Amino acid sequence: MTARRVRVALGARAYDVRVGAGALAGLPAWLRGGSRRAFVVSDEALVAARGKVRRALTQAGWRVDELPVCAGERLKDMGSVYPLYGRLLELGADRHSVLFALGGGTVGDAAGFVASTYMRGIRWVSLPTTLLAQLDSGVGGKTGINHEVGKNLIGSFHQPSLVVCDTDLLATLDDRDVVSGLGEAIKIGLVYDPRFCAYLVRHLAGFLARDARVLNRAIVASVAWKARAVARDEHDRSGEREALNFGHTFGHALEAETRYRGHRHGEAVIWGMRFALALSQVRGVLASREGARLDELLASLPVPPLPRSGSKLLSHVKRDKKARDGRVRFVLLKRPGRVLLDDGVTAGDLEAAWTLLQERTDG
Ligand SMILES: NC(=O)c1ccc[n+]([C@@H]2O[C@H](COP(=O)([O-])OP(=O)(O)OC[C@H]3O[C@@H](n4cnc5c(N)ncnc54)[C@H](O)[C@@H]3O)[C@@H](O)[C@H]2O)c1
Ligand SMILES: [Zn+2]
Repeated sequence: MTARRVRVALGARAYDVRVGAGALAGLPAWLRGGSRRAFVVSDEALVAARGKVRRALTQAGWRVDELPVCAGERLKDMGSVYPLYGRLLELGADRHSVLFALGGGTVGDAAGFVASTYMRGIRWVSLPTTLLAQLDSGVGGKTGINHEVGKNLIGSFHQPSLVVCDTDLLATLDDRDVVSGLGEAIKIGLVYDPRFCAYLVRHLAGFLARDARVLNRAIVASVAWKARAVARDEHDRSGEREALNFGHTFGHALEAETRYRGHRHGEAVIWGMRFALALSQVRGVLASREGARLDELLASLPVPPLPRSGSKLLSHVKRDKKARDGRVRFVLLKRPGRVLLDDGVTAGDLEAAWTLLQERTDG
């Protein structure tokens, strides 16, 4: 087993991300020092992966307790995470215990949040199992749960001490979760790296067919960009990390509007990016030919349709957590690799972008 290493350079809180086929087997070797008491919060559907983690840790002398959970947005809820604190107390987890989050982005976000608040914060290790989580959400220490008003409104920054992306796990993913991961990968390309974006476009078919080389390369490139943004702007203050919200204002609104049942997160982000491209054109920062070209690329991906009525979606957008002084801050695209943050978007701009997006989907 060879695993690529990407470092998240955060001084005293720096950590490694390991990416490779069979990487879970290396887990104990990368976890030196500290307590060997493990609590594995895992997606209950991932029986085989849970076995791999348990065996790897117990063989290295760890004592392991498992806390299976039901994945999905319903897990990112106060009512669902609250019992986890009780289980940890019952099982004797203390301040030195290590929590492992084995699952997709929902398990990572929720378990990371529990780790960040249990006894004022304990160590945690991120073991992402979906493509989306391996190339995006598993890295960077944003943890949290949803509120009925909107997504990710309750949370914290709490960096893991290690991330292990075992690409063997991706074989069992649903096709829709592959598209969903592709959505976040394209986002990273559009925001930071036109060459990576072009690579994804060239290898779209290979990506969707889960060609191991393409997926591996996409994960390593995405993680490297994310690691860089996190190292420079850990707490989302300078705008560098905020750029990763490209497509997310509308995407989150779509997820909330369809009660997290209509679209996978990355699918909603694909729609969100199409909306953000339209808005970038409306705001005059993106040339219309380039906007149309990029929209065509996103439109070629198999994603469930939008609800017909835009009015509720747009009111969700306006309520988004990025709203400041009644205005919503948007990440707009100038061209691949160049984004800007725009505080000046008006209700009229949103309507115009919606109209343009509808023309594109009808045409
Ligand atoms: N913290 C961050 O920085 C960040 C970034 C992006 C997204 N997110 C969050 O991530 C979440 C979406 O993550 P997700 O798409 O991984 O969702 P998810 O955790 O719901 O996983 C999607 C589906 O895949 C299944 N699954 C997981 N691993 C599998 C495997 N190896 N084989 C087969 N099936 C498997 C799950 O059971 C689930 O049904 C959203 O809540 C989003 O807000 C967070
Ligand atoms: Zn996302």
